[in-house]
Amino acid sequence: MLRFDILTLFPAMVQAVLEQSIPRIAAEQGAVEYHLHNFRDFAEGVHQAVDDRPYGGGAGMVLKPEPVFKCIRHVLPQAEQQPHMVLLTPQGRPFTQRVAEELAAKPRILMLCGRYEGFDERIRLGWQWDEISIGDYVLSGGELAALVITDAVVRLLPGVLGDEASADEESFGKGLGGKLIEYPHYTRPVEFEGMRVPEVLQSGHHGEIAKWRLEQARKRTKERRPDLLDDE
Ligand code: ADE
Repeated sequence: MLRFDILTLFPAMVQAVLEQSIPRIAAEQGAVEYHLHNFRDFAEGVHQAVDDRPYGGGAGMVLKPEPVFKCIRHVLPQAEQQPHMVLLTPQGRPFTQRVAEELAAKPRILMLCGRYEGFDERIRLGWQWDEISIGDYVLSGGELAALVITDAVVRLLPGVLGDEASADEESFGKGLGGKLIEYPHYTRPVEFEGMRVPEVLQSGHHGEIAKWRLEQARKRTKERRPDLLDDE
């Protein structure tokens, strides 16, 4: 069982997504547990401020260290395992299917979602973080990034997808060598508006089908994502 501790100022936003589809099924099956924590609950004062103006001036607000440190110290002892600690930031290492596989092997993951312009640097220095970015663009907060990562990870956990092999056969999956995007799929009817299902897929010849799929995956990757083939 993989335990997620997600630290966010918008738990309802995170909860809403985890209650649907595969993330929900994963929890119902007992493959995963989600624990959401609002670090505003650990902020002081009538306004429970979690952010403040940056030293040295400049635009935007910075997340204060105290509520985050207090929240982390409250959450850590809630389970036996030390969590793998993920900080969502555009400055992090790029998230890929390989990183999803790495995280799916952990027993516990703590994710800190930022808001505002950034984190007080002492949050970075205070803990051993795996800083992860989901792409070269700036989101309003780490929540969507945390959800992207959670979704990609929980669907890899044993038994979550009906067919054990199904994640392997996808784009970037191990069945395609991890570096190809997926081959085309067809279902019934055999002919639709003049477009026919390729004969080989109807042949029942597993060897030929596997060969065709690999060729198609290579062709698609070359056309659409030649960069994936370059970094061999
Ligand atoms: N927070 C804001 N933008 C982000 C990104 N691209 N990846 C991860 N966390 C973020």
